[in-house]
Amino acid sequence: MSQALHRFLQAGQKRIDRVLTKTLDELHDSDATLLQAMRYSLLSGGKRIRPVLAYASAKTIADLSDATDSVACAVEAIHAYSLIHDDLPAMDDDDLRRGKATCHIAFNEATAILAGDALQALAFEALSTAPKLEDRTRIALIRELASASGAQGMVGGQAIDLASVNQQPQLAELQHMHNLKTGALIRASVRMGAIATDSVSDEQLSSLTTYADAIGLAFQVQDDILDVTADTETLGKQQGADIALNKPTYVSLLGLNGAREKAQQLHQSALNSLSDFDDRADVLRQLSAYIVERQK
Ligand code: IPE
Ligand code: IPE
Ligand code: MG
Ligand code: MG
Ligand code: MG
Repeated sequence: MSQALHRFLQAGQKRIDRVLTKTLDELHDSDATLLQAMRYSLLSGGKRIRPVLAYASAKTIADLSDATDSVACAVEAIHAYSLIHDDLPAMDDDDLRRGKATCHIAFNEATAILAGDALQALAFEALSTAPKLEDRTRIALIRELASASGAQGMVGGQAIDLASVNQQPQLAELQHMHNLKTGALIRASVRMGAIATDSVSDEQLSSLTTYADAIGLAFQVQDDILDVTADTETLGKQQGADIALNKPTYVSLLGLNGAREKAQQLHQSALNSLSDFDDRADVLRQLSAYIVERQK
């Protein structure tokens, strides 16, 4: 990883941690255990790749603002909720996440379900109260996140994922599942970072969307690869979880080398889609490389 990307990642991680901490600190008059569980899952580390993508995308268009922070907070809150629910016994039944006990193990199942529900609501609250946004921009952001999270996005993809256990789908079906369960929120992170600047052109947004679609799919391809090649300690989650549950993945369909080739092709497409951008898009270019090279 280049020095520049390392610095950008660290600064973005620090910035989003501050925003998330402040957002949680403002929640009063709620159940103490529920708040503890939300804090446990939202402030438990993680790569913060979605907020960082929102920051990097915004930076290609304009300076960062408080509205960018609201977008970053919203996408990470949806992500944290999706992980809490993904780990539940009824779904992937995992007990390790980010090197710690999963939410339902540290608390209990009911609390984990409710913490996920509350984080989802918190995401939309963050967008509806984001400072200094035109009404039409605010509505566009809410709509983006709603469609990326719901039946036509992450939740829809998770439903296909659960229905494909013990199946060997065609590559096109697997790609559809990955695009929904992981790609949609990554696409939204990139798009929303740009939309919140209030000054992105249709052409710029269209190129950024093509970029985001490529890296969104690449992100889940690499997640599938790491499930096979990494170790539990580095990953902070159980290695081999997909094989144990007999989930179809890019590795199970294409083999390890085929999956790696696919990730490289997607990285190249991502770079191609940014050809009209100047060096302000360098961080996005480097993030694409990072997504397919990352070891956790
Ligand atoms: C894991 O996401 C779940 C997927 C969508 C593949 P990340 O790899 O971004 O998890 P954290 O946030 O860094 O823990
Ligand atoms: C998760 O996919 C996608 C989500 C929407 C959370 P995985 O089930 O592969 O994610 P990990 O490997 O548990 O992080
Ligand atoms: Mg899963
Ligand atoms: Mg899982
Ligand atoms: Mg996985």
